[in-house]
Amino acid sequence: MSYQTRPETMERITTPALAKAFIDEQIAEIRKQVGDKRVLLALSGGVDSSVVAALLIKAIGKQLVCVHVNHGLMRKNESENVIEVFRNQLDANLVYVDATDRFLDLLAGVSDPESKRKIIGKEFIEVFADEARKLEGVEFLAQGTIYPDILESIKQAEGKKAVKSHHNVGGLPEDLKFELVEPIQLLFKDEVRVVGEALGLPRAMVYRQPFPGPGLGVRCLGAITRDRLAALREADAILRDEFDKNGLAEKVWQYFVIIPDLKSVGVKDDSRYEGWPAIIRAVNTKDAMTASIEEIPYAILHKITARITAEVEGINRVLYDIKPKPTGTIEWE
Ligand code: XMP
Repeated sequence: MSYQTRPETMERITTPALAKAFIDEQIAEIRKQVGDKRVLLALSGGVDSSVVAALLIKAIGKQLVCVHVNHGLMRKNESENVIEVFRNQLDANLVYVDATDRFLDLLAGVSDPESKRKIIGKEFIEVFADEARKLEGVEFLAQGTIYPDILESIKQAEGKKAVKSHHNVGGLPEDLKFELVEPIQLLFKDEVRVVGEALGLPRAMVYRQPFPGPGLGVRCLGAITRDRLAALREADAILRDEFDKNGLAEKVWQYFVIIPDLKSVGVKDDSRYEGWPAIIRAVNTKDAMTASIEEIPYAILHKITARITAEVEGINRVLYDIKPKPTGTIEWE
């Protein structure tokens, strides 16, 4: 696949005025490209797909069909937020698919990280393709491709080996042929955020921390079980809540909880209490190739530990991972 390259003369989008000019230009481009045809978009709720959705809603309204696939590996309230913002606030044509059982059934007993990723990526495409086949008159597929994705593809084409396979909605089955609409393909992430704000998307969505495509699936280590996944989702929500309350959310690049498939002995209400440890990871990085550790104040770590062990069923310890990347990758799988 050949991509455009960013012209050296292209000004960096750093202000609302520059964002507005970009938005107006793209609205005209999109209208010219798609005419009165329908456009399909996989809306994950991440910054990139959200900005593309908002841009297309402005350009072509209900000609855009957004499909949000909940693979059961989303963080707490994430799918609900996507529905609230896009269906209720922006009046988007949004198809919501709860495919939790499809994914979790396929993943049952699978412990190898790359096998888990492949199952999630493949099933994601299948669920999305099933929805696409139900729709009529769709000729275009919009994607939240951004410039670093293009640079990465070029690098991989040059033969460098990827450490982990990342997935998006490329590779749809043969019977589904769409022309691509990729309005933010020349933008860097910081520019996407400026455009997102200018489009009126909620700040929490525009500044959302990166979240891997396989979601909590690669943070519920080894073979995923529903009870451990539920504990992970609750513990992660507590961590995010405490980061919000203590001013860390906008300071730290990525922070999350991991739960290994391991139990240790603990004590609760004078009884033996076997539980999982929740592992906290909080990192800062520029490009995710290397990462440093955020020094979370002890008092906040104590508060998070107390809340997770008191509020989440099945967790009896909280650990803090202080290994930078390398040698630790950001995710544990
Ligand atoms: P690692 O763990 O490789 O992560 O240091 C670097 C960044 O990439 C994210 N990540 C993924 N993103 N699909 C994605 O879309 C994946 O399979 C995947 N694995 C890791 C990770 O969250 C971090 O931001």
